[in-house]
Amino acid sequence: MNILFCTSEAYPLIKTGGLADVSGSLPKALLQLEHDIRLAMPAYPAALERAGALSEVSCLKLAGSDTPVRILRGRLPDSEVALYLVDAPEYFDRRGNPYLQADGRDWPDNAARFALFARACVSLSLGEGDPTWRAKLVHCNDWQTGLVPALLSQRAERPATLFTIHNLSYQGLFPASTFEALQLPHALWSIDGLEFHNQLSFIKGGIANADHITTVSPTYAREIRSEAFGYGLEGLLEHRSADLSGILNGIDPDTWNPGTDPRIARRYDVHTLQHKLFNKFTLQRDHGLPVSSQPLVLGYVGRLVEQKGVDLIVEILDQLAAHPVQVVALGAGEQALELQLREAARRYPRQVSIYAGYDEQLAHRLQAGADALLIPSRYEPCGLNQMYAQFYGTVPIARRTGGLADTIVDFNQATLDGRSATGLCFDDDSPEALLATCLSALSLYRNHRVDWWKLVIAGMQRDFSWTDSATRYSELYAALLHGDLADYARALRQREQHPPLSPRPRQAGQPLH
Ligand code: ADP
Ligand code: GLC
Repeated sequence: MNILFCTSEAYPLIKTGGLADVSGSLPKALLQLEHDIRLAMPAYPAALERAGALSEVSCLKLAGSDTPVRILRGRLPDSEVALYLVDAPEYFDRRGNPYLQADGRDWPDNAARFALFARACVSLSLGEGDPTWRAKLVHCNDWQTGLVPALLSQRAERPATLFTIHNLSYQGLFPASTFEALQLPHALWSIDGLEFHNQLSFIKGGIANADHITTVSPTYAREIRSEAFGYGLEGLLEHRSADLSGILNGIDPDTWNPGTDPRIARRYDVHTLQHKLFNKFTLQRDHGLPVSSQPLVLGYVGRLVEQKGVDLIVEILDQLAAHPVQVVALGAGEQALELQLREAARRYPRQVSIYAGYDEQLAHRLQAGADALLIPSRYEPCGLNQMYAQFYGTVPIARRTGGLADTIVDFNQATLDGRSATGLCFDDDSPEALLATCLSALSLYRNHRVDWWKLVIAGMQRDFSWTDSATRYSELYAALLHGDLADYARALRQREQHPPLSPRPRQAGQPLH
């Protein structure tokens, strides 16, 4: 099936978070299922530099751009996935973060930038961008592509549309006057279209107009229909609930695999777990912490934003420091959080270390070297870090929400005995709950090491690859094309009501003790 996968970031071309990981790996998995899936992304400088050979396939005149927009064709690096880069230098020839200026504020013309990108995607899907190819289905991701299903809804002959919500809190909201400025079809200015409390909402374009909507975990698909998680869109999502489903993200074992990872100090798998200790020592040494197997090393990797509950970590650092614990954090984002972490690192130089910034290599080394990963997210649509952590034998300590709830098997006597426990979860978004769970992890690590290893090994043996989820997308694409969505939704709901009880083992595990 010809599928156009529209995204604003894709690893290894450009990345700010998990959307890039998904956009760089799901299309590869779908290609293996024999789909002719092609990626469309803006031609940021980083993408132009990393994409390798590119050829111009067309030059489009699009509303919103004074100059013709070039469509460049190449390949997603290290894959056979065809790539279209939308080259509009006035909007995309900017270094750094694709959405933010150097001072951390949004680019003031983000609406125009992503409206232009959406128009280019529409043209590509209809066979105008590349005269040799047109799409049967367009798969859009997050608000930056929300206008694609909206614009396509105005066309008599159009491909099927799927909109995936990776994070509902980023909505692409702009003043109502932007609607006129972007010269969008008037029919789209309605409560069933792009209007959201008299503002222009890009994400609503996807949610209201796509033939089907997915989110990146079944639990988040339920959560966003409630006031607490819906950011004002819960009513619309409830209204569309028959066309809304959750498909878990997978991970790309070509990039994240402790057995082959070139970025870590020493590679390991479930049979050579002693090498994980070498990675722990390397992490401690690199971060100026005393090198020892004794303390429990707690890692944090992620954006420094409210969503991730970093403030909860900050709040418990004083108490944690009274225990044999070290904390290594890697993150970029809100300055206040960064400063608080730096301050704690100054107070506890032998126990707390923070690297403020974005560092791909360190993210891998942290996953390999930490004993446990802190993920106290207030909400988490899916989360990839907890999956990487489990694969790397690093025990997640996480809030039971969204994809975290769907991918971590919480430790208790039954799950421990059944060798399915892979992490420690808590419910309240309070520092007390996080601290109590960290101290349980510490007790397990120091006093019940055999049980600790059971968690480590069970996590490493789980299959987080795209195999299952890519098949789900493939089934959904087929249902969308053949119009049997009701059957698809029924089957999906049944699966969600009866999820598999135990994790899928990767291979027969070899206990260490
Ligand atoms: P989100 O998409 O909400 O940021 P995910 O857990 O889905 O959260 O994905 C985050 C991805 O971004 C992971 O691949 C993680 O390693 C990476 N990442 C986040 N912050 C950093 C950072 N400061 N340096 C390097 N990688 C980071
Ligand atoms: C978003 C979410 C994260 C998810 C990622 C990829 O950024 O915050 O939970 O894993 O998208 O889908």
